[in-house]
Order: sequence, then C-alpha cells, then structure tokens
Amino acid sequence: TILILDFGSQYSHLITRRCRELNVYAELMPCTTFLQDLHFKPKGIILSGSPYSVYDADAPHADPAIFGLSIPILGICYGLQELAWNLKGEVAGCDHREYGHASVQISRFGEGSVDALFEGLGDEMQVWMSHGDQLHSLPPDFHVIGRTQTAPFAAIAHNSKPLYGIQFHPEVTHSPKGKEVISRFVIKICGCRRNWTMEEFIGKEIARIREICGPKGRVIGAVSGGVDSTVAAKLMHEAIGDRFHAIMVDNGVLRLNEGKQVNEMLNKDLGVSLTVVDASDLFLSRLEGIEDPEQKRMIIGNTFINVFEAEAAKIEAVAEEEEKQGSDAKGRVEWLLQGTLYPDVIESISFKGPSATIKTHHNVGGLLKDMKLKLIEPLRELFKDEVRILGRLLSIPAPLVQRHPFPGPGLAIRILGPVTLGQVKILQQADNIFIEEIRKANLYNQISQAFAVLLPVKAVGVMGDKRTYEQVIALRAVQSEDFMTADWYVFPADILKRISSRITNEVNGVNRVTYDISSKPPATVEWL
Ligand code: XMP
Repeated sequence: TILILDFGSQYSHLITRRCRELNVYAELMPCTTFLQDLHFKPKGIILSGSPYSVYDADAPHADPAIFGLSIPILGICYGLQELAWNLKGEVAGCDHREYGHASVQISRFGEGSVDALFEGLGDEMQVWMSHGDQLHSLPPDFHVIGRTQTAPFAAIAHNSKPLYGIQFHPEVTHSPKGKEVISRFVIKICGCRRNWTMEEFIGKEIARIREICGPKGRVIGAVSGGVDSTVAAKLMHEAIGDRFHAIMVDNGVLRLNEGKQVNEMLNKDLGVSLTVVDASDLFLSRLEGIEDPEQKRMIIGNTFINVFEAEAAKIEAVAEEEEKQGSDAKGRVEWLLQGTLYPDVIESISFKGPSATIKTHHNVGGLLKDMKLKLIEPLRELFKDEVRILGRLLSIPAPLVQRHPFPGPGLAIRILGPVTLGQVKILQQADNIFIEEIRKANLYNQISQAFAVLLPVKAVGVMGDKRTYEQVIALRAVQSEDFMTADWYVFPADILKRISSRITNEVNGVNRVTYDISSKPPATVEWL
C-alpha cells in the first residue's frame, strides 16, 4: 500500500488514481493523520500539493515522525516544500507564480547518471507546473535531479535515503510522462507489488459481504440505472442472492423509457430481484410551479426518501409475516446498500472538511436517519474506472458499464423553469435523439456526459409559410476526467446538423437548437 497524504491540492485524488492504475493499492488520508493511527504499514508515502505556503501560519503539516521512517517518500509541489521545510531547506515565494507547461531537464548534475526516479525517461520531460513557492536552497545531503529554466531545484533526491521531491505535478495528464514517474517511485523505489486488480477484488469483496451480512438478514438498496448502483446491486446479488432486494423509484424525470430498460436489465438479464415504483405523479405534483434549482433538488431528494421508505416497509412487512409463519430463512431487513465511491469518501475525510457546496447533490444519504438500518458500501474503496472494470467482470452489458452519469434530480434540473409533464416529454424526446445520434456516430465513449436542456424562452421560427413561436433546446456535451473541470466537446459539423434537424422536425414545440460551448469553470456541467 502507498499512503498519500493530502495537503488539500485539487489533484490529490489523481495521485491515488494513478497508483491504482498501476495496480498498486493506494489510500489518500488527511495530512494530519498520525503515523501511530494508521491501520496499515505503507511501503511508501507521497505528499500531495496544497494551496498553502509552508510558511503560512495555518499551513497544514505532516506528522514529523514520517520523516524518520526508512520508507521512501515522494513530495509533490507543496509536498517537496514540506519535505525541504522539515529537513531544513529554504523555501521562498518566487517573483511570479508558475502555472502551466514547463520542460524539465533530467540528470544527476555533475555526476552524469540519471536517478532511479527518472530512469529511462530521456533527457527532457514536458511537465505541468502550478505553484507559488519554490525551493531556494537544497536541504543538507540532497542533490538536484531535475531543473527547469526558472526552477533550479525542480526535482531533488537525498544522497543516500529514498527521499524525493518534485516541483511539478506528475499526476495530471498534462505531464505526459507523469504516470511513468509515479510508476518508477511506486514500483521500483518502493517495491510495491502490482496485485490490486478487480479480479482479486470481486472474490475478496463477495467473501467480505457474506461475512458482514451473516447467514440471515435482508439487504435493500436503491438502483437508478446508473453504473454504480447497478454494479453494487449485482455484487450483492452474487454474494447473498435474493436476500438482496433492489428498489427503483421512477420519479417522472428520468430519461425516455428508462424505468422499463432498467427493469429489463436488472431483473431479466442480471437476475437481481427488483421492484420498480412508479411515483411520477407524486414527484410532478410536488414539483408544480417550482423554478429554483435547489428547491427542486430538495423536493426530489425528500420525496425519494418517502417513496423508498414506504417500499422498504412493504418488504419488511413480508419479512415479518414470514417470521411469524416460521419460514424466515431470509430474515428481516437489516442492511441498506449504498453505491458510495472512493471520491465521496475522500471528500468526507478531507482535513478541511467537505469542500464548499456549489450545488447540493442529491443522494440517498438522508435515508439512514429514520430507517434503523446498517449501511453496507461495497464500492467505497473504488474509483469510477475501477467500478466500470468490475461491472464488465460481473457481466453487466457494455453499454451500461460505459454509461454517462445522470444526476439524481434528473430532467428536473435540465428543465429551466417549472417542471410539467409536457415539458418533461419534450425534453425526453430531444435528449433521446441527441444520445441516439451520438451512439450512431460512435462518439458516446469519447464524451464524458451529453444531454439536452430545455430553455425557458420562446423563439420565432418559420414552418411552411407560417410563423412559429416555440421553445429552444440547448445541447451540452463535455469531456472531463473528474467533472471538477470540463471542456465542451467539438462535434463534427455534419453530426450537429443531423441532430438539430431531427430535433426540430421530430419534437413538437421546439423550433431551435443551440450548442453550449462553455467550459467548466466558469460554467458548470449542468445548467442548474
Ligand atoms: P456540475 O453541474 O456541478 O456537475 O458541474 C458535475 C457533475 O455532477 C452531476 N450533478 C449532479 N448529480 N445530483 C447528482 O446526482 C445533482 O443534483 C447533480 N448536479 C450535478 C452532473 O450531472 C455532472 O456529472
């Protein structure tokens, strides 16, 4: 295991992902974690970047005990400064913030041989820099292993111990050889074995679920048709069969035919026992006249909890009845399954507390408050790409495994203005055409998320020799690694043309289509 100490950089989770991609298990923990509190013995430690300067009064610092260990340490950006600061080097603000691409010259200056960290990577490497401070002198017993035009100590190594510091960010894709640098550190220098694979995970996790759940007791869980809840549900089914029961709530703001498709896939193809509850009327009536996006989210979240709990109560009533009859092999409802992923866990353990809420994302976290159930989260160690691999291994159909994320509040936050059945139908059709054409053009897997938005304006158009006054659809397609930042997708013009002409021809009430060319930031992915 590699321990990654998080000093608050926006890239910290990417370091963890890069290690996992090398099949090495890595855990991210707050930088304030004490060595004595670790539940495992790391083979190496990586110190992340940070928005702070090591000299700030409130700067985060690591337990000094880690620098006395004999295991390898790699400090990245702030991590380099933290290393130097602890080992008495000199850090200072530089005249200008360095941000963007840079070229690092690699060598063991003066001695000729390249350090193990950079072995085989050539003489020069393109990297991504983002820092305000930099090192002004070497800590004692260190030497330079890489420099840029502006940073004479861009990479340093200890003369005899496996201690390294690099100013640049190897974890981002803008550093093309970054992954290899991390690989040199993790595999060569730390000697980690590459045994973190989803094949191994499945067996271990199924055994763990069986042990946690014991021989009796039912587990219930919500499924949405998304990758995470489907994979979690299938894993539970593999582990405890029909003691697991999935519930899907149709909230009336799903994509076209979604309820039906999920039912077919989970129930028929995957054999998971599933109840689909059509509560669309209830949701739509509670949403009537609401325009504020946060209020829409809250109403949908709360209504979801009401409906789910009512359904869970029915399952519990059956279990109770079986118990009375003496045929209670499956037991009572004891557990609630949640498809929590590692990024949610990371967010909740950050040393700064959860990051500022820009939008309240609806999830089923509120469920546990009233239902006296224990929580089971089989995916809480995994990143999304790992969940996808797991899905494939569990024979979940490829189109589902690759599915774009879909927000909990669904089309309600893509209808700008009040949500009505009529508006939902218009958006469902437009959205369906958009996704259909993307799939036909074989572009679905290149795009991270694509959807249509129904704007609350009317525009003038012409049809035959009549004026029309109808609504506008905005299309949005983005590429993103983690949805913290995103770029709009550049479509070939003929595809946009076909999509636009199909939407204006086939969707009644729409006479105009626009394409959203804003990146995040400053925009967000969703419009609300
Ligand atoms: P934003 O709009 O914040 O979206 O840039 C980033 C990602 O989050 C999804 N999203 C949501 N997911 N409930 C969800 O479950 C929500 O309320 C919600 N709002 C945004 C969005 O679809 C994108 O993938």
